[in-house]
Amino acid sequence: MATGSGHYPIYLLHDVVKKREAKGVAFRLKVPSLRIDRGEKIALIGESGSGKSTLLDMLAFVLQPSAVGAFRFRPEEGEDALDLDASWQRGNLNILGDMRKRHIGYVMQTGGLLPYLSVHDNINLSRSVLGLRLDGTVEHLAEMLGIADQLKKRPDALSTGERQRVAIGRALAHRPAIVIADEPTASLDPYAAQNVMSLFLGLADEFNSTVILASHAWYHIKSLGLRRLAHRTTRSKGSKLTETVVSG
Ligand SMILES: Nc1ncnc2c1ncn2[C@@H]1O[C@H](COP(=O)(O)OP(=O)(O)OP(=O)(O)O)[C@@H](O)[C@H]1O
Ligand SMILES: [Mg+2]
Repeated sequence: MATGSGHYPIYLLHDVVKKREAKGVAFRLKVPSLRIDRGEKIALIGESGSGKSTLLDMLAFVLQPSAVGAFRFRPEEGEDALDLDASWQRGNLNILGDMRKRHIGYVMQTGGLLPYLSVHDNINLSRSVLGLRLDGTVEHLAEMLGIADQLKKRPDALSTGERQRVAIGRALAHRPAIVIADEPTASLDPYAAQNVMSLFLGLADEFNSTVILASHAWYHIKSLGLRRLAHRTTRSKGSKLTETVVSG
């Protein structure tokens, strides 16, 4: 869990490639070089289909890269950097799952709340899988996110914006070193989106989490002080192959 805040790389990637193909249509994401330091706030901006979720899923160890020069992960200062590619190659999915649970919070593009759990238990989920005791964090997050009076409800009795705030709470509740957020405000109107985004970034600061955020709209977030990754997407004639190169 998050402790110090020194500047050291959490992620170091070199020549990472992910290929995806279905029905003769191919997509390739190339990452020649990417370094993300502890405490940074990173924005990944790109149009629909440019590979944002693909990169985030690789950074969350959900998706195995197709080829790797280097993929190192060091969530805590003083710990050895982990060679994530070696874990993938050895099929060591337990280590990957364990790293993900302990160090990463993920606000999914589709929300991903469990419909049969209350708002409280949805937010607490990231803590309960780690066996963390109830310590008021859920209530604190709910208060900060403006959903304190919704804790007993199920997600289907919430508005879209409230659901997104629950998803943000859940991603932060175990105080992870990294919070990955995939279009966390996509379905909100611009005013609500700005509001939820500032709440999110403020809480990430309070919880000392590094933020990696994907969005299709830079204008929503350019005032929020994030470092934008370089990003270039090209399509072949007939759009049979789309390639995106990301680095930063
Ligand atoms: N399981 C899959 N099999 C084959 N191709 C896939 C698969 N998942 C995604 N793709 C393709 O990979 C490309 C990148 O998809 P990705 O979901 O990363 O884009 P995105 O930038 O997150 O888009 P959006 O803004 O719409 O969420 C797309 O062309 C998509 O069609
Ligand atoms: Mg996406």
